[in-house]
Amino acid sequence: MEDFRDFITEKKEDKSYRLVILSHDDPLDPNETAPMVRKKAEELGLEVFLAELMGCYLEDDGNNKLLYSYPVDKNGKPELPDMKHPVKYSKPFTMNPDDTLIMIRGLNARNGCASWWTMARNLESFGFKIINSVKCNEICNDKWYNQIIFQRYDVRTPATVLIRHSEGALDAAEKLDNKYPMILKTSIGSQGVGVMWVESPKALVGIVQLLYRESPYVDILLQEHIKTEYDVRVIVVGGEILGAMKRPIIEGDFRSNVSQGSEPEVFKLTELEKEESLRAAEVVDGDIVGVDFIPSSDRNKDHPYFIEVNSTPGLVGIEAVLSQAGSKAIVKDKKEKGISITTEILKKYMNRDLWK
Ligand SMILES: Nc1ncnc2c1ncn2[C@@H]1O[C@H](COP(=O)(O)OP(=O)(O)O)[C@@H](O)[C@H]1O
Ligand SMILES: [Mg+2]
Repeated sequence: MEDFRDFITEKKEDKSYRLVILSHDDPLDPNETAPMVRKKAEELGLEVFLAELMGCYLEDDGNNKLLYSYPVDKNGKPELPDMKHPVKYSKPFTMNPDDTLIMIRGLNARNGCASWWTMARNLESFGFKIINSVKCNEICNDKWYNQIIFQRYDVRTPATVLIRHSEGALDAAEKLDNKYPMILKTSIGSQGVGVMWVESPKALVGIVQLLYRESPYVDILLQEHIKTEYDVRVIVVGGEILGAMKRPIIEGDFRSNVSQGSEPEVFKLTELEKEESLRAAEVVDGDIVGVDFIPSSDRNKDHPYFIEVNSTPGLVGIEAVLSQAGSKAIVKDKKEKGISITTEILKKYMNRDLWK
């Protein structure tokens, strides 16, 4: 009897939905994930609208919100107006918070318009479920803020200090016991750019002065270097781990970003790594996030070192890694080949409990 009731509840909760993907095709970071998500959502039978944040706006028809965007082609390229071609919008998408989920992939601190954030805040105030939330984007876009949140919730990280002035470099290094090499990062940055290897006080002072000259209000983090051969990217979705991959350090480098050339492989997490990755996603208010850590030397006993959480994780890499891995793939412990993590992510949101 109880089983039967569970079955009914599950059926009631599993509802199809309409999906809006708000993203931006940045010439330096072409939009690959959003068109892939659109394709997988269409295959699942969802009604999807891929919108370009540049030029995008909302109207209200009294019942619903209407979302206007420049047309976006199947590769994710928007058709932007230019001096010779007038503004052309595609048919607006009608949406309301009860049936429309909004995935936003374009809020970052390095580029983008402040008004995109305002639109996201506005959509939240209308009651829309935005993935990831504005709060999550705020935390994850700023490595120092992310660090502070980790510290607040006792999520283990490498020892980290903020350099607080152009002449504050050596003072900060002192707080890390002057143990070189150290890792220096600008608080805003991604794809490994802005993350530097510092071997000596002389190099440190020079880099810090230069960064301040180029940008007088820059925030710079100085961090203990954790020796490792790889780091780990965990995809956490709605409080569940849907996949993990190991990213080997690039030859001749210390970084492991896929955008810098690392070739990821499927990775099996320990129970402790799973627990802590879920916690790292939760403390930053993440719905669909990429959690990055460097493993500890005793992976079953000691907590990993969390590096950051990404609020706009690329999914193309992990999609390929997991679908090729077949029986080793850990997606929901399914063993079959050809599994699509993107499809699994989209399916999860059929459960409206995750919209709260
Ligand atoms: N404290 C550290 N010790 C060792 N390697 C690190 C450390 N911090 C970062 N890295 C390496 O540099 C990469 C990029 O750093 P990260 O802070 O994630 O910046 P980004 O946002 O640019 O990816 C990481 O994926 C990791 O390989
Ligand atoms: Mg990173």
